[in-house]
Amino acid sequence: MKRLVAVFWTVLMAVFVISVSAAPVENDFLLQTKNSTMSFHKSDNTWLMVHYGAKIEKAGDVNALAWSGWVGGNFFGHRKPATYSVYGSDNDRSTMNKFGGLAVIHADGVTSTELKAGDAKTVDDKAGVTHLVLELKDSVYPFFVTQHFRAVEASDVIETWVEIRHEESAPVKLMRMDSLALVFPLIAKEFHLLSLTGQWASENQLTEAPVALGQTVSMTSRSGVRSAFGNNPSFMLSVGDRATEITGRVIGGALAWSGSWSISVQHDYVNALAINAGSDTGNGPYTLDVGKTLTSPKMALTWSDSGKGQISRNLHRWARDQQLRDGHMLRPVLLNSWEGAYFDFNEKTLTDMMDGVKELGGEMFVVDDGWFARGKYARDDDKRGLGDWILNEKKLPKGLGWLANEAKERGLKFGIWVEPEMANTTSELVDAHPDWVLREKTRPLRQGRGGTQVVLDMTNPVLRDNIYGQMDAMITSIPGLAYIKWDANAEISNAGSTYLGADRQPNLWFDYTAGLYDLLGRLRIKYPDIIMKACSSGGAHMDYGFLRYSDEFWTSDNTDARQRVFIQWGAGHFYPSCAMAAHVTAVPNHQTHRSTPLKFRFDVAMSGRLGFELHPKNMAAEEITFAKKAVADYKRLRPVIQQGDLYRLVSPWEQSYASLMYVSEDKGKAVVFLYGLNRPVMSDYPAPLMLKGLDAGKRYRVTELNREKRDHSRVNGKTLGGAALMGMGLPVKLEGDYDSAVFELAAE
Ligand code: DGJ
Repeated sequence: MKRLVAVFWTVLMAVFVISVSAAPVENDFLLQTKNSTMSFHKSDNTWLMVHYGAKIEKAGDVNALAWSGWVGGNFFGHRKPATYSVYGSDNDRSTMNKFGGLAVIHADGVTSTELKAGDAKTVDDKAGVTHLVLELKDSVYPFFVTQHFRAVEASDVIETWVEIRHEESAPVKLMRMDSLALVFPLIAKEFHLLSLTGQWASENQLTEAPVALGQTVSMTSRSGVRSAFGNNPSFMLSVGDRATEITGRVIGGALAWSGSWSISVQHDYVNALAINAGSDTGNGPYTLDVGKTLTSPKMALTWSDSGKGQISRNLHRWARDQQLRDGHMLRPVLLNSWEGAYFDFNEKTLTDMMDGVKELGGEMFVVDDGWFARGKYARDDDKRGLGDWILNEKKLPKGLGWLANEAKERGLKFGIWVEPEMANTTSELVDAHPDWVLREKTRPLRQGRGGTQVVLDMTNPVLRDNIYGQMDAMITSIPGLAYIKWDANAEISNAGSTYLGADRQPNLWFDYTAGLYDLLGRLRIKYPDIIMKACSSGGAHMDYGFLRYSDEFWTSDNTDARQRVFIQWGAGHFYPSCAMAAHVTAVPNHQTHRSTPLKFRFDVAMSGRLGFELHPKNMAAEEITFAKKAVADYKRLRPVIQQGDLYRLVSPWEQSYASLMYVSEDKGKAVVFLYGLNRPVMSDYPAPLMLKGLDAGKRYRVTELNREKRDHSRVNGKTLGGAALMGMGLPVKLEGDYDSAVFELAAE
C-alpha cells in the first residue's frame, strides 16, 4: 500500500512538474517586474519587443499605443523591433537589416539570417522570476537561436541572453553574436548616454553626453582580460529629457562578461533607437561547429521612470539577490598586505600586521603578492615566479598552514593572493610548458609587467587542469583558508593560441573567457565558502561576469581618498557597496603622493567594504584609538552600508563636496557620508543635504560618527522627523580641504 501511495505521489508530482515547468506563450506576452513591463507580440511570424518601460497591465493597451510601422525613412535597415535584431532579416519585404546583433556566414557562404518564431514558453525558475524562452529558427537554414528573458520581479531587472547552435553541413562563422539587440522605434526624440571610463588608477570616471541624431555611440573593451578599463560594460540611457538622480526615464544595462565586449547605442534620423550589447569577436569571426551551442553572456536591463538613482538601486538589489556570490553576506573588515609591505616581507612582518589588524578590530588578514615560487624564480619582485603556486620557502619557511594558524590564534580569518591566468616566462611552469602561453607563432612574444609577464591559454583544458590542480593543492595546504584575491595584471597582447587550430584563432577572445569561467566554476563548486575578490590591476574586473564567481572587487589601485570619492561614486552607479573594496592606506598616498587626514580616509573607505592596506605599526597611538572606534562603528552599521539602498545626494562632479547615504530596507537606519574636496574658504557653504529614502512618518536620532573636535551639523544629537530631514534637509558644515563627516540616523 505504502508503495502504491509513493507511486501515486510520484506520478502526481511528475504531472505537476510537467504542467508548471513550461507554459506555452501565444501571440502576446507581458513580461512583468514590480515597476516595468517588457511586452512581446508575434507578427508575421516574427517576435517583436513592442514596449520596454513603464508597467502596463493589458497587452491590448500596449499594442494600441506601441509602434505601428508608420515610421518611414529608417535607413538603419531595421524597421521591425524584433526581439533579436539580426543582419540579413527583411524589413517589410523591401529592405534588408544591415545591422543587428547577430551576423552569420552560413556554411554555404550566404551572409543573411532571417529568424522566424518557433515555440515560445515560460519555464520554471526561482520564486519571483518569470523566465520567457523564445525559440527562433532561420527560415532556410538549420540555424537556431534560443532567446532568454528572465524578469526579476523585486529588483525590476530583466536578464537576457541567447544560445546559438546549428546543424548546417559545416561550421558557420559568427561575425557578431550579441546578447542583446533591441530596436525601439520612436519612443523619444532625445537620448543621453552615461557610462564609466578610465584606466589604471583612475577607474570609473563618469561621462555623459547626448547620443545626437544620426550618431552611433559605442563602448568597447578589447583587452580580453581587463574588461573594465577604458569603458565599463554598463550604461544608463536617458530616454527623452536628460535624467537626474530623481527624475526622468532611464534604461540601465550591465553586461556580465569579463573578456572583450562591445555595447552600442544608435540614434537614427527618424529617432529610432537600437541598443546592442555582447561579447566582442575581436578581429575575426567566431567559428561555431555543428552541434555545439554558444551561450552568450547575460545582459541585465533595468528601467526607471524616477531617475538614475533608482537604476543603481535596482542593479544593486539584483546583484545582491541574484548575481553576486553571497550577496547578502556581511563582508569582513580585513587588512591586505600589499601597500604595507609590497614584496618585502617575512613571517614576522606578516604576524606583526596580524597583531595590528587584530588591535584595530579587523577580522581577516590577507597576504598579497610575493608568497610563492622557489629557487631562482622565488617571487621577490614582479619579474618572476607567476605560474608556480608553491611556497616561497625563503620568505615563509614555516609555511602557509603555519601562517593561517597564526591568524587563527589571533581570532582572524586568513586569505591569500593569486594570479592564476598569468605566468612569467621566468617560471618553472613556462620552462616546462612554453606552449601554454598565448603567443603568435611568427612574432616575438610581447611581455608585460616585470618584462616577463604573459597570459596563459585558458582555451586549453590541459592548462586549466594544471592551474586547477595547483590551486586545489594550495588551498588544501592552508586549513581554513577563507579568502582569495584573484588578480590579473595583463591583457591579451599575444593574440594566438597553440591549442586552437589555425582556422580558429579568432575564437580565442570568447573561448579565453569561457575557459576562465570553467576554471572559476570548478573551484567555486569545490570551495563554495571561500570569499573571493575579483582584481585586475585594480578595478579592471568590475564586471558582473566575474562577480558571479566573486563576492567583491578591488575598486582601484588608487587608494588616495580624494580620488576614491570619484572612483567609488562611479562604481556605485552600477555595483553595490558590499562588493566595493575600499581600504584605508598610509599618507602620503603611494599613487598620488597626496596627504589627507586619517578621518577623511576612514570616512571615504567606510562607504564601501572597509579594509586596510598599511602597516599598523606605523600608526600613531591616537590614530589607533580613532581607527578602533571607527571599525567598531562600521561593524555595527555595515548591515546598512553594505546592504542598504544607496541615494546619491551631491555629486563631486558638480560641487566641491560630495554626499551619499544608505538606508536600510525597513527604513529604520541610515548612514550619511559628506566629503569636502578642495574647499574654498569662507564661501561655497554646503546647502542642507536633502536626505532621501527615509520614512517620512518616522523620527530619527542624528549622531555624528568618527567625530573629532567639532560637530559637522548643528542638529547632531537631536531627533528629527523623516519628512523634515527630506523636506528641509540636514544642515551641515565643512571647513577646508578634506573635511568630512559621517552621520548615523536611527529611527526611534
Ligand atoms: C595589482 C593589484 O591591483 C594590487 O592590489 C596588488 O595585488 C598587485 N597587483 C600585486 O602584484
